[in-house]
Amino acid sequence: MKELIETVRRDLSMSEKRRRHTEGVVETAKLLAERHFPAEIAPEEAELAALLHDYTKEYPVEKQLEICRQYGMEVPAEELETPKLLHARSASLLAEHLYGAPEKICSAVRWHTTGRPAMRPLELVIYFADYIEPGRTDPACTRLREYYERQYQSRRDKTRALYLALVRSFDTTVRFLLAERKPIDSCTVEARNDYLRLVKTTNPHTGKDG
Ligand SMILES: [Fe+2]
Ligand SMILES: [Fe+2]
Repeated sequence: MKELIETVRRDLSMSEKRRRHTEGVVETAKLLAERHFPAEIAPEEAELAALLHDYTKEYPVEKQLEICRQYGMEVPAEELETPKLLHARSASLLAEHLYGAPEKICSAVRWHTTGRPAMRPLELVIYFADYIEPGRTDPACTRLREYYERQYQSRRDKTRALYLALVRSFDTTVRFLLAERKPIDSCTVEARNDYLRLVKTTNPHTGKDG
């Protein structure tokens, strides 16, 4: 996998800004993997998925649609109205067909923009690292990054800390899309409800939330 990582890093063709963002996601994904899923995610897997996640983000929409057509992935009509989401599809297809990346890497790239319910560990890590990497300086991301860190440092149950921050990330996205009068992907809504259900389970020992 080390060779593949080097190849992808060499091939990355993107603006300096996106490259910095990508390296931020690499570092954050490795940290999240080490903290929360040391048995499930190897550092190289976090690195490769992070390097690939925005691989096609700066491609023109037409080129992304062409990649989807080439590899037989159907794009739902409503997604054509949200071309921002397309890069998750096209990048996952290139991860699979151009680089022969393992399936778990491709699925992490595929779901990084919307999230989805019951995410697999690497899917969750890439989705969340994309949100909180240190290069994201808009107030919503900064607040979320600080919130996650507070939860992580103060709670004994680290999974719960992560899920609380995840719910907040989905809430932030939904709120933003409502304010902008933009469509909300149903996967994001389902993911939010799923993780909300998980954090709402009260602690049986104290009867209290948390
Ligand atoms: Fe992205
Ligand atoms: Fe990204």
